Amino acid sequence: MKKLCVILVILLAVGSFAFAAGGQQGGGGGAAASSALIGIAMPETHVLRWTKDGASLKRFAEARGYRAEDQYGNADQNLQNTQIQNFLTQGAKAIIVGCVNDGVGAAVADAARDNVEVIAYDRIIPNSADYDYFITFNNFKVGEFQGQGIETGLDLKSATAANPKYITLFAGSPTDGNAFFFYDGAMSVLNPYIKSGVLKVVGPYPETSADRANFQRIATENWQAPVAKTRMENLLNNDARNVTLDAVLAPNDTLARAIIEACLADAKYAGGKLPVVTGQDAEFDSALSIKNGQQYMTVFKDTAKLAEAAIILADQVLKGQAPNIPGATLASGDLLSIGDTGKKVVKAYLLEPIAVYKNNINVPVDAGFFTDAEAAQLK
Ligand code: BGC
Repeated sequence: MKKLCVILVILLAVGSFAFAAGGQQGGGGGAAASSALIGIAMPETHVLRWTKDGASLKRFAEARGYRAEDQYGNADQNLQNTQIQNFLTQGAKAIIVGCVNDGVGAAVADAARDNVEVIAYDRIIPNSADYDYFITFNNFKVGEFQGQGIETGLDLKSATAANPKYITLFAGSPTDGNAFFFYDGAMSVLNPYIKSGVLKVVGPYPETSADRANFQRIATENWQAPVAKTRMENLLNNDARNVTLDAVLAPNDTLARAIIEACLADAKYAGGKLPVVTGQDAEFDSALSIKNGQQYMTVFKDTAKLAEAAIILADQVLKGQAPNIPGATLASGDLLSIGDTGKKVVKAYLLEPIAVYKNNINVPVDAGFFTDAEAAQLK
């Protein structure tokens, strides 16, 4: 009898060990994880990347055994809050949020009350102390790359104050914390040239995003292309009427193409040289424009990698593990401010962006960022 008991205990121990080990396999998570819902709340669809982000997040969540649902806020925070509330009603365990603006705080507070893990995705959730994690790119570096694009495109290192270059400045949405980092990164490269007089700004010149009054004048509410296009048309007809612009700081590809469209409708640029126009996101239309010599550069952020990293983070947090995310670095030092919500500093995990010009357009292509048909056109 005693022998039988010992055998039984051993069998039970081996069985539960095997069960526990099975639960860890492939990061798939056991029974709890496989039935848990991850809500995916993306901000908008008028900028292409978000539909790709949403689909990638869903795919990576499902690959780890979660149920997942993606929703898009149409740049409307009330709509996004309703979508987040629906995830809570459905009993989601984690919600990944690329927010529209700080109005998301109320929904995030509700999630915290329900013990639902919220991860800020790509954009910080400002003015909230109700979440702990943020995963994004090094957004200051994105801006630095844009500034360097202009530095290279205009050969500012050899330019002189006697023969200055002319630039006009655009920023992203003032409701999106990223827009400040992009701008400050770019201006960290351009300000010395402006100070020495070799680069002249046409239109408003906030030296940094801290000059909120002037920043507001160059900002593009909700990253809407028609807003940037109209502002560019106005500039061309007024402040920039008597000069030829050499460059335009454009914060992303959607706005870059709107700005280029406005330039192409102006006789001064239509037939001749377009200004050096920067961008971000490596959207296919902009990659093609770079290949064809219109847009000058973009910044490639591998959003499939970001989505995968966000799901790894959610999975680890839900399992009570200390986050350890391959390919991402925990922000520290000067970069700590990337995780500052205004109410607390959350842990911000950063991925690295890559500057893309005509001569390395193969980088996003080789990363599998485009469809085969698109990639073929970029060869
Ligand atoms: C993202 C950019 C995007 C922009 C407009 C920013 O928060 O980081 O990639 O172009 O929003 O959607």
